[in-house]
Amino acid sequence: MSFGGRQVLSGASLEVQAGETVAVLGPSGSGKTTLLSVCGLLLRADSGSVRIDGQEVTRMSQLRPGAIGWVLQQSNSFPRRTVLDNVALGSLAAGFSHAESQELSERALTDVGLSGRLHSEARELSGGELQRMCVARSIAARPKLILADEPTGGLDEENSRHVASLLRQVSSTGATVVVATHDLALAQACHRVVEMHKGRLQIEESQ
Ligand SMILES: Nc1ncnc2c1ncn2[C@@H]1O[C@H](COP(=O)(O)OP(=O)(O)O)[C@@H](O)[C@H]1O
Ligand SMILES: [Mg+2]
Repeated sequence: MSFGGRQVLSGASLEVQAGETVAVLGPSGSGKTTLLSVCGLLLRADSGSVRIDGQEVTRMSQLRPGAIGWVLQQSNSFPRRTVLDNVALGSLAAGFSHAESQELSERALTDVGLSGRLHSEARELSGGELQRMCVARSIAARPKLILADEPTGGLDEENSRHVASLLRQVSSTGATVVVATHDLALAQACHRVVEMHKGRLQIEESQ
């Protein structure tokens, strides 16, 4: 993958099993977001391929709606909409009906421990709760693949641990989770850590 002729990913190959959580650990600028964006079909690499369930995919339309869930460091939310609405909007956008979206969203919010906040406005949540809401939004439509880009950036230790254990819990239901981070505690909570350095995946170690 290159931007304006400058190569930012090269020879990076990553295979992740269903139900596995993998941390991509690396300093800022090493290519983590670019790698996740290629995996999530937001960017098309100049060479190489993306396979999901053994099938080569090049376009989002080849997957069922909501098959990929994203968690970002600063996910957008609608501050004046309710927590339930914020999560349901994600599943509606993924093509689920209103009733299905409500049901999926309530379940996801219960999974992240926010069942008591369904009708609060998003702006009333703390930073940690907001990030859990965003995890709920990313898992509501039951994605096969969850891509989390620095999901604990800006969170304190306790909330970071909570997000880490949630991602691990989600993977135990069969989803594949790839987390880009420079948070060692988050990386250690994953099944496997790969290190990224200047666009190359380097050391691979099993935990
Ligand atoms: N859209 C873009 N246009 C040009 N350069 C980019 C773009 N996105 C990322 N880069 C460059 O690619 C490199 C890797 O960036 P990134 O994947 O964001 O790293 P990380 O997520 O590890 O901080 C950096 O040098 C960054 O400046
Ligand atoms: Mg990044």
